[in-house]
Amino acid sequence: MDIDMEHRFLFLLFLFFSFVLKESASKCPYRTDAEVLIFGAGTAGVTAARVLNDHGLNSFKVLEAHDKIGGRIRNITFKGFQIEVGANWIHEAPGNTGSRSDNDNPIWTLARDNQYRCDVDLEGVDVLISGGFTESSIFMDFNNQAQQYETFNTSEIEMDYIAKYKEALKTNGTNTVRQGLNMNNWRPDSPLKQLIEWSEFDFTYAATPNESVVSLTAENDNVNFGERCFIVTDQRGFASVLRCMIANFGDHQDKILTNTNVTSIELYSECVCAEVMGQGRMCGDYGIVTFSIGVLQNWIANNKFKGTSLSPAKIRAITNSRMGLYLKIFVKFPNVFWNISASYTYATNSTKRGYYPVLQPIGASLPGSPPIVLMSVTGDEAMRISHLSKGEVRQEVVAVLRQWYNIENESLLTITNDDIEYHDWSTDEFFLGMFSNNPTTLTIDDKRNLAMPEGRLYFSGEANSIEHGGTIHGAYCSGMDAATEILKRAQGEILHKNYSSYMV
Ligand SMILES: Cc1cc2nc3c(=O)[nH]c(=O)nc-3n(C[C@H](O)[C@H](O)[C@H](O)COP(=O)(O)OP(=O)(O)OC[C@H]3O[C@@H](n4cnc5c(N)ncnc54)[C@H](O)[C@@H]3O)c2cc1C
Ligand SMILES: *[C@@H]1O[C@H](CO)[C@@H](O)[C@H](O)[C@H]1NC(C)=O
Ligand SMILES: *[C@@H]1O[C@H](CO)[C@@H](O)[C@H](O)[C@H]1NC(C)=O
Ligand SMILES: *[C@@H]1O[C@H](CO)[C@@H](O)[C@H](O)[C@H]1NC(C)=O
Ligand SMILES: *[C@@H]1O[C@H](CO)[C@@H](O)[C@H](O)[C@H]1NC(C)=O
Ligand SMILES: *[C@@H]1O[C@H](CO)[C@@H](O)[C@H](O)[C@H]1NC(C)=O
Ligand SMILES: *[C@@H]1O[C@H](CO)[C@@H](O)[C@H](O)[C@H]1NC(C)=O
Ligand SMILES: *[C@@H]1O[C@H](CO)[C@@H](O)[C@H](O)[C@H]1NC(C)=O
Ligand SMILES: *[C@@H]1O[C@H](CO)[C@@H](O)[C@H](O)[C@H]1NC(C)=O
Ligand SMILES: *[C@@H]1O[C@H](CO)[C@@H](O)[C@H](O)[C@H]1NC(C)=O
Repeated sequence: MDIDMEHRFLFLLFLFFSFVLKESASKCPYRTDAEVLIFGAGTAGVTAARVLNDHGLNSFKVLEAHDKIGGRIRNITFKGFQIEVGANWIHEAPGNTGSRSDNDNPIWTLARDNQYRCDVDLEGVDVLISGGFTESSIFMDFNNQAQQYETFNTSEIEMDYIAKYKEALKTNGTNTVRQGLNMNNWRPDSPLKQLIEWSEFDFTYAATPNESVVSLTAENDNVNFGERCFIVTDQRGFASVLRCMIANFGDHQDKILTNTNVTSIELYSECVCAEVMGQGRMCGDYGIVTFSIGVLQNWIANNKFKGTSLSPAKIRAITNSRMGLYLKIFVKFPNVFWNISASYTYATNSTKRGYYPVLQPIGASLPGSPPIVLMSVTGDEAMRISHLSKGEVRQEVVAVLRQWYNIENESLLTITNDDIEYHDWSTDEFFLGMFSNNPTTLTIDDKRNLAMPEGRLYFSGEANSIEHGGTIHGAYCSGMDAATEILKRAQGEILHKNYSSYMV
């Protein structure tokens, strides 16, 4: 062989090997550690794990960045009490006396039934859903003549809003919910009407009607199963429902890996791999990613999905989505000066719609009934307030309640920064917002594409639920769907692999 021939031969050999290597690289370049890798141990991830487990697919691993499971269900200690800084309500719990039906919220079933034999039976209270139901809500408006806040019977305005809103969702040819409301002659031209609109719309969707698209809002409008809901005040934490679901996994330590920061996900035609901070790479035959829309948007912006690219439809669906902002502010006062019989006290603000519009006497349901209230804000106000210092928030809250209740005795309002607590989910890199809603950029096709798998990577989490987006039961159903799809698909494959647990 002369030099030239030899070069040519080596070159062909190189081409051959690079082709073979490339082929096998795209199939699966690494050994797999599990059949399924589940990214995130919130409601969707834990549910997916449970479903796989119950169908005999035991080789899975759940990778969770935080030191606890639960995700956006999380309790923290505040003034000696466990309070829920994320999800707090089980929408439509038929109550301790109510009858049950197939239509019940599955989370209610988890919280009540001894389904997984760990006796969770959550404590809490039954309340009627906000607005609409004057027997559980007080609406206060500023009476200019009396120069103070007074309670109003808003039942007629509420009925008017609800009727027009229902029509708005059926009105074709509109884009925003605001346009639909306008077309049906709903005019929020007084602070009281604005407040009722806020209580009915913004309080649920964490966005204004102006910012929400009619079509998806109509699909999503049965987020509530009915008129009642259940506030969880259990001192074991709401997340004990999820802990219960995985309590009898056996080799639990091995399957649920907390403090595991996934820094990229790689898609191949025959496996899904992930880089874990400080631990190297892990691979599975399938993957289920349950990260919030906020996290997925951040991942796309930072090219953290590697290997086979995500489809343009998937990228569009994620980037067109939006995380709503919903800030829960807990405040402890020296004494109760609010009405603990009303589940919600709403009050108008004539200069700013959505400025601290609601107070809930949450302490009344905690052990010993401490004087703790919950004030919630949404959207732009949530954003504004989350940028203030705690002292500034304290001053605003105190000023508002002083006016609502016409308090002259300042010692009733004397609190320190330690008496106030809120959790800003939007700055936590593992959430980047509170829950998904229905922005005008998003279409029904986008919403369907959100939940489509990309090869072997399945997408799950609250945002993937069209009917129940933004809720725990939406996340639960979506986790169940992703696991069920994988079970169906994996049945066709004979997996003779040794999934000993190791990290490469
Ligand atoms: C303030 C607030 C109030 C709410 N109120 C209610 C309510 O009353 N009722 C209701 O039904 N719903 C409510 N929700 C919504 C509900 O909490 C969520 O819809 C649900 O918990 C979402 O579950 P998930 O599994 O889809 O997502 P998550 O709970 O966000 O789970 C995703 C998991 O992925 C993890 N993760 C993210 N990035 C990484 C990474 N790089 N590596 C590893 N792990 C990662 C996260 O830590 C998280 O644990 C509320 C939400 C908030 C924030
Ligand atoms: C409020 O007004 C409605 C009708 O306008 C009436 O049916 C209802 O009884 C009133 N509620 C109270 C608590 O007065
Ligand atoms: C609105 O459009 C949908 C299809 O997009 C159609 O099914 C429905 O009948 C229309 N409703 C009205 C009131 O025209
Ligand atoms: C919604 O948009 C209208 C104009 O269409 C504006 O007058 C109003 O202030 C906006 N409301 C909110 C709550 O953003
Ligand atoms: C939630 O409550 C449980 C039970 O009291 C406790 O073990 C856990 O540490 C709490 N979570 C946080 C984040 O404080
Ligand atoms: C998680 O990993 C990202 C890199 O993807 C890094 O920027 C971040 O600081 C890590 N967070 C923690 C808590 O380790
Ligand atoms: C407290 O709220 C309840 C329930 O809404 C109401 O019946 C009662 O009149 C209120 N009491 C006061 C003092 O406002
Ligand atoms: C109404 O909102 C303004 C901010 O726009 C605030 O300064 C004022 O204190 C609020 N009033 C009440 C009673 O909430
Ligand atoms: C003010 O409230 C405090 C605490 O409730 C009480 O001890 C005090 O007597 C009140 N002062 C006046 C002047 O009412
Ligand atoms: C799986 O691999 C482990 C470690 O490599 C080995 O000890 C074990 O015997 C293997 N099991 C089977 C069934 O091959």
